[in-house]
Amino acid sequence: QKLEMELESIEKGGYEHFMLKEIFEQPRSILDSMRGRMIAESNHLMMAGIREFENKFANANRIIIVACGTSWHAGLVAEYLIEDLARIPVEVEYASEFRYRNPIINEKDIVIAISQSGETADTLAALELAKSKGATIFGICNVVGSSIARATDAGAYTHAGPEIGVASTKAFTAQVTVLTLISMIIGSKRGTLETTKLHELMAELENIPAKVEQALKLNDQIVRIAEQYKDATNFLYLGRGYNFPVALEGALKLKEISYIHAEGYPAAEMKHGPIALIDEMMPVVVIATKDSSYEKVVSNVQEVKARKGKIIAVVTEGDTTIPAMADHVIEIPETSEHLMPLLSVIPLQLLSYHIAVMRGCNVDQPRNLAKSVTVE
Ligand code: G6P
Repeated sequence: QKLEMELESIEKGGYEHFMLKEIFEQPRSILDSMRGRMIAESNHLMMAGIREFENKFANANRIIIVACGTSWHAGLVAEYLIEDLARIPVEVEYASEFRYRNPIINEKDIVIAISQSGETADTLAALELAKSKGATIFGICNVVGSSIARATDAGAYTHAGPEIGVASTKAFTAQVTVLTLISMIIGSKRGTLETTKLHELMAELENIPAKVEQALKLNDQIVRIAEQYKDATNFLYLGRGYNFPVALEGALKLKEISYIHAEGYPAAEMKHGPIALIDEMMPVVVIATKDSSYEKVVSNVQEVKARKGKIIAVVTEGDTTIPAMADHVIEIPETSEHLMPLLSVIPLQLLSYHIAVMRGCNVDQPRNLAKSVTVE
């Protein structure tokens, strides 16, 4: 027993929980997920897994992404990336819904299955179904040799390393990293992503691990915010564009480990429902970084403030507009909007972690949840 406990504490590398360790590993796991695949300086961009399928990807009529949970959120980020950079229509589906609704799939479709564990039953069944209808199946898995990795025609591993905490953190950013590389490869192959823009993005992606490192320095500030909101019963998370999936992911993290009810919403959609919930008791986390939807998010923040909601804003360093309205401001480094989810998700992971710890929850093994769900 004692030996087991000591072993576990060694595995946690000095962190109190695996989840915190994994959050802090992200500069490294993101780097590992692009290592060998991209070197900005020499304009090298290549993924062994996609190489023989480059033409297939480039000529695909449509890309369908199937996944569950956090992996589904990474899929949503990819929808923005692929449609914007490679101009191929993308549909992102919950594997469990996709497989049971007699979906229309054909040989010109590419299905990307995203799964940390590579063992999620619904995702595996969804890809088997798509395969039986002739689609090309591409897998993005973290666990080498897993069932999903073996069932695909081709794929790319996220080199995040073992993820022990049930709530997924570093696997998400690794998935987004790999999906960004894929979007850039297809975009450049199709000629929809200009070379100068491609090189800019590559250089910026290379800077991401250092910027994640910088975002992790917000930890102490986030502990103080968590102290103020740990007893809240509801949370709303808002974001637009690339930050919309991040809002969903932030809310999911909080639900999973702190058991606080949280909803993620596209900021503009708030007026069609959730705005009715806002009062002085409602913390609203708004991801309002400087990007193409920034001005719109500013008005959404005003709408929340007018109803006395408490604003916790994630903003780009140096912003002065949102801080003038928000109750709490979390500043993250500037980057291209295409890459922003890799940074904006970090403070949300930390916020949910600290709130859960303060509420006495078992963060690494939350009640009722499993790391990999091998039953449907
Ligand atoms: C479970 C886990 C989640 C995970 C989801 C999908 O619900 O608790 O953290 O996002 O399954 O898992 P996968 O291994 O397919 O990414």
